[in-house]
Amino acid sequence: MNAPTPTAGSTLTVVPSGRLLGAEIRGVDLRSLAGADFASIQRAWNEHSVLLFRGQQLTDDDLIAFSRRFGELDWAPIQETGRRFVEGHPEIYVVSNVIVNGQPIGSLGAGEATWHTDMSYLEAPPKASMLYALEVPPSGGATYFCGMYEAYDALPDALKRRIEGRMLKHDGTYNSGGFVRQGVTAVDDPMTSPGVYHPLVCTHPETRRRVLYLGRRRNAYVQGLTLAESEALLDDLWPLATRDEFTWHNEWKVGDVVLWDNRCTMHRRDPFDPNSRRVMHRTQIKGETRPTA
Ligand code: OGA
Ligand code: MN
Repeated sequence: MNAPTPTAGSTLTVVPSGRLLGAEIRGVDLRSLAGADFASIQRAWNEHSVLLFRGQQLTDDDLIAFSRRFGELDWAPIQETGRRFVEGHPEIYVVSNVIVNGQPIGSLGAGEATWHTDMSYLEAPPKASMLYALEVPPSGGATYFCGMYEAYDALPDALKRRIEGRMLKHDGTYNSGGFVRQGVTAVDDPMTSPGVYHPLVCTHPETRRRVLYLGRRRNAYVQGLTLAESEALLDDLWPLATRDEFTWHNEWKVGDVVLWDNRCTMHRRDPFDPNSRRVMHRTQIKGETRPTA
């Protein structure tokens, strides 16, 4: 695909990361974005799957307004504390280790968040998530993204044949920080744990490219196989799918916004010093369709 043609008066540039996915969009203020620039951003997003915008200064309303340009927003899932969302902004999910009056203000703590797709235990998972950095630790806490088009394309043919037509259960028990979701009883048997089945190989509704759709490893189960066969297949797939060459990562600076396509990427987070502060606000854009083969 060609780089978007610059529009008269636009300062927008797309700077690919040099990895297989990821690009930085420079020269835009997300609070006042011209329609032509938004169209360029959408094209770049389809091409690079994950976009980084640095140096933004957004209120929650600004973050919500920019996110809405991509589609209707989900309400944030219930936090680990049982609290639903930021007062007055039900669309904002707080990802933070900060504790105020003995209560975490957000989710995921300071530990590692393992590879996952956001909320793929829903019938129609969010199509995108956007994370905005308000406070970042001096080191650690980087977020990694893995390109699942590339992961699928690179699979050996024999493995492609083993997964063709198969459905995978996406666990609804644990979030990516390993915490049990609100209102759910912990179940550690992949055969019986709550979740939703999606095709293991999906077609992206916009790019029409094929994508390996793994969701998360814990409690995953391939329908129609014995548990041992399912575990063996998933254990073959995961290391191949998350090879370093398919990844790009962001070392956060305050003011960074990262937008990822939740249909064709997974992400994970490095742990960081629990005594430092990390505060991120996230929005999610509703999925318009169920993932389909
Ligand atoms: C998320 C998430 C990782 C991070 O917000 O969905 O996985 O780096 N966050 O905070
Ligand atoms: Mn996530």
